[in-house]
Amino acid sequence: MAKEVTQPPQLLRGMKDIQPADWPYWHRVFDAVRDLAGVYGFERVETPILEASSLFNRSIGQDTEIMEKQMYSFVDKSGDSVSLRPEGTASVVRSYIEHGMLNLPQPVKLYYLGPFFRHERPQAGRYRQLWQFGLEVIGTDQPVTEVQLILLARAVYQVCGLDSRVQINSLGDKASRTAYIKALQAFFRTRKSELTEEQREVLLKTPLRLLDSKDPKILELLTDAPQIVDHLDDASRQHFVKVLEYLDELEVPYVLNPRLVRGLDYYNRTVFEIWSVDDELGQSALGGGGRYDGLVEQLGGRPTPAAGFAGGIERLVNKMKESGVVPPVWHPEVFLAQLGEPARKKMLKLFEALRSEGIRASESMTKDGLKPQLEMANKLGVPYTLIIGQKELMDDTILIRDMENGIQEIVPYDKAVAEVKKRVSRVQANSIRPVIGQIKPDRVDLTDKLEDLPLLAKDHDPDIDNE
Ligand code: HAM
Repeated sequence: MAKEVTQPPQLLRGMKDIQPADWPYWHRVFDAVRDLAGVYGFERVETPILEASSLFNRSIGQDTEIMEKQMYSFVDKSGDSVSLRPEGTASVVRSYIEHGMLNLPQPVKLYYLGPFFRHERPQAGRYRQLWQFGLEVIGTDQPVTEVQLILLARAVYQVCGLDSRVQINSLGDKASRTAYIKALQAFFRTRKSELTEEQREVLLKTPLRLLDSKDPKILELLTDAPQIVDHLDDASRQHFVKVLEYLDELEVPYVLNPRLVRGLDYYNRTVFEIWSVDDELGQSALGGGGRYDGLVEQLGGRPTPAAGFAGGIERLVNKMKESGVVPPVWHPEVFLAQLGEPARKKMLKLFEALRSEGIRASESMTKDGLKPQLEMANKLGVPYTLIIGQKELMDDTILIRDMENGIQEIVPYDKAVAEVKKRVSRVQANSIRPVIGQIKPDRVDLTDKLEDLPLLAKDHDPDIDNE
C-alpha cells in the first residue's frame, strides 16, 4: 500500500508561537504590568477563556465589527453557545457581579494578563490570538480614574522602554451620543453621492464607524463633519474638562482626537488610546480604553460606573524590538564542565549546591568531551568555569577557570561553593526581577548597561509580522 504523504502540522493563520528568544521581552512586559499594577493598588483577576456567547452579545454590541465578523463561537457538547473571549472587560464585569464585588470597598481595581481571540484578517500587528494586559476600575465615576489608568499604562510602556502619547476624546452620555449620530447622519446624507454603497449602509447602521474610516474621500469629508465634543451634555463636558486638567497638571502629552470613538458599544464619556510616539503612520494603537458607566447595569448588576484600559502585548513587544529595546535576560554566573561519568555525578551535586546558594550556574551534563563544553562556556560569556577532569576527580578537587584572563585555580571540592561565592560578583542589572522592580524613570532604560553583556536577544530576528 502506498505510504500517505503527511505534511508537518502548521500554525493556524493569524496565530503565533511565543518562542524562547521572545520570552525576555514578554517577561519584561508581564513583570512591568504585575509590579506597576500592584503599585497602583490593582489586584489580579483571571477569567476563563471560554464564556457564554450571550455575555459578549449583551456587552460589546451587536453591530460592532467584533460581534459581526470576529467571534470564535460554537455550540459545545452540552448544546450551549459559547465563545472564545474577544476582550476582557465583559468577563471582568461578569465576575464583579457574580462574586458580589459590589460589597467590597469601592472602587474595585482589577488587572489581568492573557490571550484573547478575534477572527480578524491577519496583518502586521493584528493576530487572531492576541494577548492583552487589562486594567479595570469598577465603582467610581471620578475623572481621576481615567487619568490614573493612563498614568499606569504609560508607566508600563516606559518601563518597557517606549515613549507613548495619548489620544483622547469624549463620547458623552447616551443622549448626546444619539444626538451626535443624528447630526453625523444628516451631514453625510447631504453628501450621499460621494459615498460607496457599503459606506451608505454603514451610515445607516453604524454611522460612528465612518469616523474610523481610512478611505481618503471620507477623511476629506470628515474635516467639515460635526464633532462629538460639540454635542456633549454638560455633565460629560465637565467630566472631560476635569480629565484634561489632570493630564495638563501632570504634563502627560495628549492629542484631542474628535474622531476617536473606539469599536465597542459599552463606552460613554472618556475614551482614549495610547500610541507609541514613533508610530508615524498611526498604524496601530498600543492600547485603548475608556469609561463604561452603563455596563454593570446592562449585565444585570446595580448601576455602577467604571473605566478601564487594555494594551496589546504582541504590539508592545513588536515595538520594543523595532525600537531596539534590549530586555534583560537570565545570565549564568558560572559554567560547569565535567569529563566522565563519576565527574558528572559530582557536578550534578555541585549544581544543586550552587542553586541553593542562589548562584546561577549553566551546565552541559549531556555532553561528554571537554572541548564542546568549554566552547559553550565561552559562548555564554560566563565569568568562571568550574571543571572536574580526571585529575580533579582523583584529588577530590575542582578547577576554577577565570574566563577573562585564563587563570586557573585548584580548590578542594567541598570548598567549591564558598570559593565560587567569593568570586562571583553579582551583575544585578542582569537579572530580570530586580530590574523590572525599578520603576523610577531614571532607572528604567537599562539598555546601555546591558548592551555589553553577551547572550542578549538583540540579534533576534523579529519574524512575527511576516504572516
Ligand atoms: P481594544 O481596543 O479592542 O479594547 O483592544 C485593546 C488593544 O488590544 C488594542 O489597542 C491592541 O493593542 C490590542 N489588539 C486588539 N486586537 C488585536 C489583534 N487582532 N491583534 C493584536 N492586538 C490586538 C479592548 O479590548 C477593551 N476591552 C479595552 C478596555 C478595557 N476598555 C475598558 N477596559
